[in-house]
Amino acid sequence: MQSSEQSESRRQLLKWLAASPLLAFPGLAGLAAQTPARAPQKLPDPMLWAPADLQDLITKPGDAINVFDFEPVARRNVPPAHFGYMASGIDDEVTLRANREGFLKFQLRPRRLVDVSKVDMSVDILGARYATPIVVAPIGGHRAYHEGGEAAVARAARAGNHLMILSTQSTTSPEDVMAARGGPIWYQLYATNKWEVTRAFLARAERAGCPVVAVTVDRNGGRNQETLFRLQRTDTRTCSACHDRSSLTATYDGRPMYEGVDLSGLSNIQSSAMTWDTIKRIRDTTRMKVVLKGILAHEDAELAVKAGVDAIVVSNHGARSEDSGRATIDALPEIVEQVRGRMPVLVDSGFRRGTDIAKALCLGATAVCVGRPYYLGPGRVRPARRRAGARPVAHGAPRHHAAGWRAVDQTPRAGHGAPGLTAWTEETRKDAICRADWGFSSPSYWWP
Ligand SMILES: Cc1cc2nc3c(=O)[nH]c(=O)nc-3n(C[C@H](O)[C@H](O)[C@H](O)COP(=O)(O)O)c2cc1C
Repeated sequence: MQSSEQSESRRQLLKWLAASPLLAFPGLAGLAAQTPARAPQKLPDPMLWAPADLQDLITKPGDAINVFDFEPVARRNVPPAHFGYMASGIDDEVTLRANREGFLKFQLRPRRLVDVSKVDMSVDILGARYATPIVVAPIGGHRAYHEGGEAAVARAARAGNHLMILSTQSTTSPEDVMAARGGPIWYQLYATNKWEVTRAFLARAERAGCPVVAVTVDRNGGRNQETLFRLQRTDTRTCSACHDRSSLTATYDGRPMYEGVDLSGLSNIQSSAMTWDTIKRIRDTTRMKVVLKGILAHEDAELAVKAGVDAIVVSNHGARSEDSGRATIDALPEIVEQVRGRMPVLVDSGFRRGTDIAKALCLGATAVCVGRPYYLGPGRVRPARRRAGARPVAHGAPRHHAAGWRAVDQTPRAGHGAPGLTAWTEETRKDAICRADWGFSSPSYWWP
């Protein structure tokens, strides 16, 4: 254990080194600034030579090195309550961290001397071919982040030929989103506890031309989003000026999926009473294919197969449904093993890098849905907070979304080559991954 004098001397040493013209690199200044009151007992190994500098945010989308670069920009530009809604997990956010750290438990086993100069990343999902295995996850309320809303995201999805899943909470109609996507989109259903509401949503999505409904099965109660609540307290705007929360009808007034839908008798849109009978009823009611979003146990995967469900999404709702700390990448193997290829298995929550995606595909996932990264990009600009000379990232939604997607898009190409695979075949991908058999630590835990 170090004494406080030793800690202080170390901080002083780092400051002095950072100021030295002989050792003039920004990394040390960052380290000195980050040195906690109780200093670490050793320098990180390997050294962080280019830590992200939160004072120097990207000013245009093309500057993003990775999808994380959008996050501090959104934090600066988006009203705190809106940012909090997006960034929140629940409770202690153990699952939020676990979703990222879970990837470290798996390692790729690259095969060498394979020509990966041309790779085929395309996937078939329920009869449609997509250019990549990256799917746009359903997220509600895009217009809270940019006026282009879901249609702008759809245009970006069109550019990259991505499957897009539209949320029940969409701020744009499914018809308009479908037109912007230039092809079919899936519809995500919050079924609620009132069958008439479920039926109305299904009918609307079917009329709009959605071929698939993804029923979200992991929202059966309220949730404790502490990050959201804390950031809400720092937001000086009057929320009720934009959001009328006086009743459920008022809350969803103007949301296209709710047009003409009678919400009387409901106090929330969660589905606490949903059972396998509900799924059967949905299947019997709609011609759309039925996908379950939020499966985490192999027993439920088997029940889904038996219920004639067409596909599942292994998801913990981006760490927004429970906080027990289990990453979806940890849940994936037992589910793939149980399903044995009888239906597609998609997965989401925490996917940020190409190797994350490669790991899921090696473990047998058909595709990976991505949520926050594409949502982060379009944050509105608040000029008052702009750094002098800096130009905001958030102008021009389609361009911006497309750039956000480009950052996401480029990673699987790299990730794809990593295991030495030119395409995801059943025979090759299993051998391209193994479970880490050593203690692991993520970069953020380098400091003791
Ligand atoms: C702000 C926000 C809103 C969301 N809204 C919905 C929604 O309306 N319906 C739904 O099924 N999932 C919703 N999700 C969950 C996503 O579909 C997806 O499961 C999750 O974002 C994936 O995790 P990631 O954000 O770490 O990529 C939402 C997630 C976030 C972050």
